[in-house]
Amino acid sequence: MFIVLEGIDGSGKTTQAARLGEWLSGLLGRDMVLVTKEPGGWAGGDAIRRLALDGKLSSAWGKFFLFMTDRCEHVSSVIMPALGKGMCVICDRYTPSTLAYQVLSNPSIGSGTADYMTGICEAIGLPLPDCVCLLDIGADTARKRLDARGRLDAFDALGRDYFERVRAAYDVLMKRSHGGWIKADASGDESTVFEELKRGLERMFGTRPGGFAA
Ligand code: TMP
Repeated sequence: MFIVLEGIDGSGKTTQAARLGEWLSGLLGRDMVLVTKEPGGWAGGDAIRRLALDGKLSSAWGKFFLFMTDRCEHVSSVIMPALGKGMCVICDRYTPSTLAYQVLSNPSIGSGTADYMTGICEAIGLPLPDCVCLLDIGADTARKRLDARGRLDAFDALGRDYFERVRAAYDVLMKRSHGGWIKADASGDESTVFEELKRGLERMFGTRPGGFAA
């Protein structure tokens, strides 16, 4: 079982990934659940994460390929081995992040290439998530949250409009998908959002632990 969490910066993905990890560990056993993240969720990933996030890359394509490189390594050294053992993998960001942040909301790449990029992901053999949990939140609310955490770097560098475009891009990806997405209102408190996600997952996979096993 491969579950991915998505949303704009400040949407609370990391918190919800940890909570889903705890919940599913209770159902399946701790050694059957892996919570990981992109960029940087593999042994050499810190260097790529720093390079991707320090704001020195100016080319949208450069960023696209860097995130894809990170993902290929993450998939081959972390995600596939865990899925191969029958584990439930919960990943904080995955391919939808690259399509939303680098492709659909970025005029220098253009939305016309989104299908082609999706094709590349398939050709590379990246596993498709069984479920994408989209944490939907407006850019202003997300910004206030990041402000409270003292983490405004991305917002200041990229601007509010960019994050509204990313939010809209996620909706486009959800509409184009053939199901498997859960959209939750992420503006509420942590527990309310978690309950909404949990209900969505139970609707999709059932309430028995076996539904969440590989
Ligand atoms: P995080 O703070 O959720 O870990 O995400 C790091 C940043 O990297 C966030 O601003 C989104 C961005 N990002 C992309 O732009 N493209 C991608 O493919 C990924 C995985 C992250």
